[in-house]
Amino acid sequence: MPGDIVTRTEARVRELLADDASGHDWWHVERVRRLALRLAADEGADPLVVELAALLHDVADWKLTGDEYAGAHHAREWLRGLGQPPELVEHVARIVGTISFKGAGVQTPMGTIEGRVVQDADRLDALGAIGIARAFAFGGSHGRPLHDPGSPPRLHSTREEYRTAGGATLNHFHEKLLLLRDRMNTGAGRRLAAARHAYMEQYVARFLEEWDATDAPAAQEPRR
Ligand code: ADP
Ligand code: NI
Repeated sequence: MPGDIVTRTEARVRELLADDASGHDWWHVERVRRLALRLAADEGADPLVVELAALLHDVADWKLTGDEYAGAHHAREWLRGLGQPPELVEHVARIVGTISFKGAGVQTPMGTIEGRVVQDADRLDALGAIGIARAFAFGGSHGRPLHDPGSPPRLHSTREEYRTAGGATLNHFHEKLLLLRDRMNTGAGRRLAAARHAYMEQYVARFLEEWDATDAPAAQEPRR
């Protein structure tokens, strides 16, 4: 039964991601699942494929393992073990294998509407208020500074360059987060991304004002 497969997959993913503090915790997966199912209803995508791909999309991240195929491999083995039909297994594995952002200049096209929906939901969770929180949580867990005015952002043209780039967290807004709005796949995804994007732009502007203290009133002229 589909419900049973989803429940077992959820339990497995919860167990695998329970202790993650790098932005791939269980609650990220839960938010992506919920949003993906909403987008799926709008787009007429198959909800079972969408839900399974959302649940499995981060269990073996290529940026952490260095192995681009680890996620797809893991999803395939898991669903095969549950006795799922090969078309379903391959569809979910293909989505998991191609979902991730790999640098500003690296294209990651999605072949099916189910893939486009899950990719949009995953990207949306990197935007807005939650996206800001996740970026600084990721930076903190990697010992990175909030901001480094001496090191401007870079647009990475290969996935290896993107994967191994260090740097201050504020740069990540320019290297990834503010690029996502124009890479959404679905209409509903684009609308949500536009609002979350505007919120982040405001946030970055405000951050820099506070950094330079330009939000503070000018110092008084000394009295004579
Ligand atoms: P996804 O869930 O799309 O695979 P990532 O694995 O790229 O997302 O990243 C997980 C979270 O950590 C996201 O919110 C992302 O923006 C954030 N993140 C990834 N790389 C960095 C970085 N270099 N600096 C700050 N945040 C990052
Ligand atoms: Ni994700």
